[in-house]
Amino acid sequence: MHYFDYRRGKLYAEGVSIERIAREVGTPVFIYSAKTTRRHYRAFDGAFRGAKHLVCYSVKANSNIAILRLLSKEGSGFDIVSGGELFRVLKAGGDVRKVVFSGVGKRDDEIEYAIKKNILMFNVESPQELRRIHSIARRLRKKTPIAIRVNPDIDPKTHPYISTGLKKNKFGIETELAIKEYIHAKQNLPWLEPIGVDCHIGSQITELSPFVEALKRVVKLVNFLQSEGLNIGYLNMGGGLGITYRDEAPPHPSSYGEAVIRETGGLGLTLIFEPGRVIMGNSGILATKVLYTKEGSLKNFVIVDAAMNDLPRPSLYDAYHEVRPVVDKKRGELTADIVGPICESGDFLARDRTIKEVEPGELLAFMSAGAYCFSMSSNYNSRPRSAEVLVTGRTYHVIRKREGLKDLIRGEIIPEGLE
Ligand code: LLP
Repeated sequence: MHYFDYRRGKLYAEGVSIERIAREVGTPVFIYSAKTTRRHYRAFDGAFRGAKHLVCYSVKANSNIAILRLLSKEGSGFDIVSGGELFRVLKAGGDVRKVVFSGVGKRDDEIEYAIKKNILMFNVESPQELRRIHSIARRLRKKTPIAIRVNPDIDPKTHPYISTGLKKNKFGIETELAIKEYIHAKQNLPWLEPIGVDCHIGSQITELSPFVEALKRVVKLVNFLQSEGLNIGYLNMGGGLGITYRDEAPPHPSSYGEAVIRETGGLGLTLIFEPGRVIMGNSGILATKVLYTKEGSLKNFVIVDAAMNDLPRPSLYDAYHEVRPVVDKKRGELTADIVGPICESGDFLARDRTIKEVEPGELLAFMSAGAYCFSMSSNYNSRPRSAEVLVTGRTYHVIRKREGLKDLIRGEIIPEGLE
């Protein structure tokens, strides 16, 4: 569900036409709908009404500080994976007491930064990290709450690059070892306070069963830890709920909520969730301009001004993003690869896609581009990163300026002798 619709043949974000934004801000441009974002947040949060819970939006999905501010005003906390993301949350005015810090490779300076800022807890991903956090907490003389991220060995049935809860993945600690680590922490690491159990099995999951299976295992672990005298008050189920890019039919947050509450009800735990994609994925689009069309003997190409540096998901995961004309009029069809200007064949945004015929100068919209698009974009081929716009009703705000040429070389230095 989103608020990108046609009005009299023209694509709008809420009450603002995409054509107008493209004319005034230029292309490529990411356009987000505030109303859609709020709606997704409320649908997710509302699915756990009645259960003690905290939604910690996963900053990596879309980390623009305007988006973080909007979600913070909805009451959201944040799941971060770097000091940089913590900095963003603070700049956005987010509540640091609702921040959880995940990731397999937290550096000392990042750990120290997060301890000093009093985040809610660390999600610890290895025995060495547990000891590292303890020694930093001891040096700072600050008792530090932690959860251990357990690897429940569940196949989330999603793309291999984004499945994380299998034993072969780098994430979390296997359950048997996690138990030993919890007991070790309780007995020997006085500056740590083990308060939660955490797990995240993957992303773009479109069935309930992997979540339910993981939950059953994690709940068993919580029960066991409590019987060992650990004071576990939080159960973090991570993120991962999928969205519709094409024809996927993921469970609605309310069914996910029901299933989670069924498995955890009566345990008295505070549930934590780290949704990213389900909040932002369908809250944004990428508008791009057609530069050229080209007919080959085997394929047609539509060359646009956005590229894999702007929308990396198709090249990285062979991901599908629906393509829509920004002005919808009667015309013939064309099957083509929609590609960017970058100098490699991996630079495609859609392959063998049947779309309405287009002319140079026309605009196309790549749908479902609110999550893991701008946040994964780069300057490859020395392409300035695009602008980001947030639409609220009939107005829009530029929430990130388009980069200019000077941004491309910011921080670069020609050493003496080469001058
Ligand atoms: N929590 C943890 C520990 C995570 O690693 C992730 C995502 C999330 C929460 C949020 O998951 P979500 O609700 O968004 O599925 N770049 C890939 C997705 C990578 C996901 C990484 N971790 C893509 O574009 O599909």
